[in-house]
Amino acid sequence: MAKFFEEPSRTFNEYLLVPGYTGENCTPDRVSLKTPLVKFKKGEEPAISMNIPMVSAIMQAVSGEKLACALAQEGGISFIYGSQTIESQAAMVRRVKATKAGFVGSDSNVSPEDTLADVLALKKETGHATMAVTENGEANGKLLGIVTSRDYRISRMDPSEKVKNFMTPFDKLIVGDEDISLSEANDIIWDHKLNQLPIVDKDQKLVAFVFRKDYESHKDHPLELLDDKKRYIVGAGINTRDYEQRVPALVEAGADVLCIDSSEGFSAWQANTIKWIRDHYGDSVKVGAGNVVDEEGFRFLAEAGADFVKIGIGGGSICITREQKGIGRGQATATLDVARARDKYFEETGIYVPICSDGGIVYDYHITLALAFGADFVMLGRYFARFDEAPNKLVTVNGNYMKEYWGEGSARARNWQRYDMGGDKKMAFVEGVDSYIPYAGSLKDNVQITLSKVRHTMCNCGCLTIPELQKNAKITLVSQTSIVEGGAHDVVVRDEHFDAKEK
Ligand code: IMP
Repeated sequence: MAKFFEEPSRTFNEYLLVPGYTGENCTPDRVSLKTPLVKFKKGEEPAISMNIPMVSAIMQAVSGEKLACALAQEGGISFIYGSQTIESQAAMVRRVKATKAGFVGSDSNVSPEDTLADVLALKKETGHATMAVTENGEANGKLLGIVTSRDYRISRMDPSEKVKNFMTPFDKLIVGDEDISLSEANDIIWDHKLNQLPIVDKDQKLVAFVFRKDYESHKDHPLELLDDKKRYIVGAGINTRDYEQRVPALVEAGADVLCIDSSEGFSAWQANTIKWIRDHYGDSVKVGAGNVVDEEGFRFLAEAGADFVKIGIGGGSICITREQKGIGRGQATATLDVARARDKYFEETGIYVPICSDGGIVYDYHITLALAFGADFVMLGRYFARFDEAPNKLVTVNGNYMKEYWGEGSARARNWQRYDMGGDKKMAFVEGVDSYIPYAGSLKDNVQITLSKVRHTMCNCGCLTIPELQKNAKITLVSQTSIVEGGAHDVVVRDEHFDAKEK
């Protein structure tokens, strides 16, 4: 007889949180959203924690290098998508790791033989007033000087004037060497009243700039997630096919954590992949696995040695796995079941394996619910794909700004490795769609609003940390009618098309 889960499986939309007692000290500014990313033994600290419980989905439309830097600045982690060649994925990881927080690679470079007209044109194009003067104008060429708007007066100078005649030459510059830390660079900037400090290597080649204005923005990102060399922390997706080549390339590029990206993780291929990593790297390479939706799946991956386990089949916004294959489980039920399995495993072994609720987050409060259901963090695709930093295109659809968003199992991504069951044949059907989603602006602005809501709700529940929420949250099922009651109802909502006249 087949195993039946007698209760219907449910989604986050079917639940609400019931407030707990909020004490005077329970205020949003005191809430910590710190959460473990990888497994740890009782009484020990995880090797990697995040400052916010959000990671970005392993998808072409979501996790490129720009988004990875922007999310790390806010305290979370991106997993650079694996549905690309090993070389290009490793290059993306390398570029994220090369973006040292506060150190900016120069994208405005001129040569000494260029003219004032060239400088003005470049300024218009990049919007940057500071330019490096390098040999041949190469980005990482030998630094010969800099040009800022203090070096020229447009009204008094001929546009054909050569840069070498008005730049501030190298011997008049204060520069930092490439091993300098950000705080040392900032000290030099303050001590010498500079606006920028060029950083050069031992051959005088330009490495980066540190700008005074970025000092402020650095202070704007108190939760920034950095490694011990002050580089952004970044993850990368892998598959169960080419890991013998892909994993070494990603490790060499500096990826801090890997994750097997698969629509269904309860498989021999995932265990083999983790085993290969353990055999070759021991515990030094961190790898998450998934996705699973029940206790059995979790236990299998935990015993196989996964550093974290991802939950969710069929709940993603672009996902049609349930329609196509009839597998999956409501995300709330799956998260609850796996969270119970994680706690049981912890009691038995003393090893805490963090779990991630992946896909299907529609409203910001679903994040709080996922945490209350026991998730340690959530993975989001649609949410991040709406932002400037995502690598997908911004388009207009019927006059509205939209971002393109497509599933990894859609014909567009052609990520067959995520779905292929180990055979040679390409699968003949898709598990995802190609879509548009409303454009939403910058990651920073949106993440800060989302997390502000999470912090406020946690305070309503009387909780200052995620573990407290996981332990103390009170959760209620909601009926269809109470969902209607929860939105604006029995009023005509005013919007920009509203044409009301006073009587
Ligand atoms: P979202 O946040 O609801 O958009 O869901 C994102 C998640 O959907 C990803 O992290 C994946 O787990 C999953 N996913 C990505 N592409 C596909 C697909 O083509 N089919 C099914 N699930 C997908």
